[in-house]
Amino acid sequence: MILKDIWLDVKAVKERDPAARNPLEVLFLYQGVHALIWHRFAHWFYCHKLFFIARLISQMARFFTLIEIHPGAVMGHGILIDHGCGVVIGETAVVGDNCTIYQGVTLGGVGLNKGKRHPTLGTNVTVGAGAKILGSFQVGDNCTIAANAVLLNPLENNVTAVGIPARPIKISGVPIPKEVKAEVTMESYCRMEERIRAMEQTMTELQTELSHYKNNDSNESGKEALSDAEE
Ligand SMILES: CC(C)(COP(=O)(O)OP(=O)(O)OC[C@H]1O[C@@H](n2cnc3c(N)ncnc32)[C@H](O)[C@@H]1OP(=O)(O)O)[C@@H](O)C(=O)NCCC(=O)NCCS
Repeated sequence: MILKDIWLDVKAVKERDPAARNPLEVLFLYQGVHALIWHRFAHWFYCHKLFFIARLISQMARFFTLIEIHPGAVMGHGILIDHGCGVVIGETAVVGDNCTIYQGVTLGGVGLNKGKRHPTLGTNVTVGAGAKILGSFQVGDNCTIAANAVLLNPLENNVTAVGIPARPIKISGVPIPKEVKAEVTMESYCRMEERIRAMEQTMTELQTELSHYKNNDSNESGKEALSDAEE
């Protein structure tokens, strides 16, 4: 069983890393594969409650590969850990089949609570370099998490998420329309100033016209008063 898992990991690298030349090279020279091989043994000991040996193997793997996979983590088949350096996968994390994980990825927890506290990745998920997925939630099948994103919430299937905190930008490769925010830019500020100036000018004109009418009114009423007096 473990041998089959190792073969599937080697095959995954061969198929998905354009730089991989042949399975033998992958088996001997890819630390992502080495980390997974160590982990398969460590996980076996973990499942048989031999926690010290499990942890010892995992620490040795970390020493040689710079990839830390807790022996309790459940790793699927055909996983590609590319470059790998700095990857940390927590105790209760689950990584589905055919996932791709780049260097610097953390599948971690938030807080100090026990129990399930790490994420669960569906199948065929890609986690970009330096991305952090923190908390106990599900990331759907075929999702892509961008390089350096920090994902704190669950994702549906086929979603691409980017940023800090990560937000969905595509579903099945189709961009999600962006919300247009009312932003104050230099241009909008200049337009606003022009409109205020035009309004001020109109007000001055109206005031002049108004005072003109008032003057006319007072003159006419004065004349009427004079003619009344003469009569
Ligand atoms: C997430 C990713 C898959 C997006 O690829 P894509 O579907 O081709 O997306 P686009 O390039 O069309 O980008 C869509 C939007 O997301 C933004 N975006 C893409 N990657 C981003 C990232 N890592 N962080 C923040 N924003 C990102 C783009 O700027 C663009 O924004 P805009 O619409 O405002 O212009 C890709 O950018 C990525 O990060 N892949 C990981 C690769 C990796 O880690 N390689 C390591 C090799 S060693």
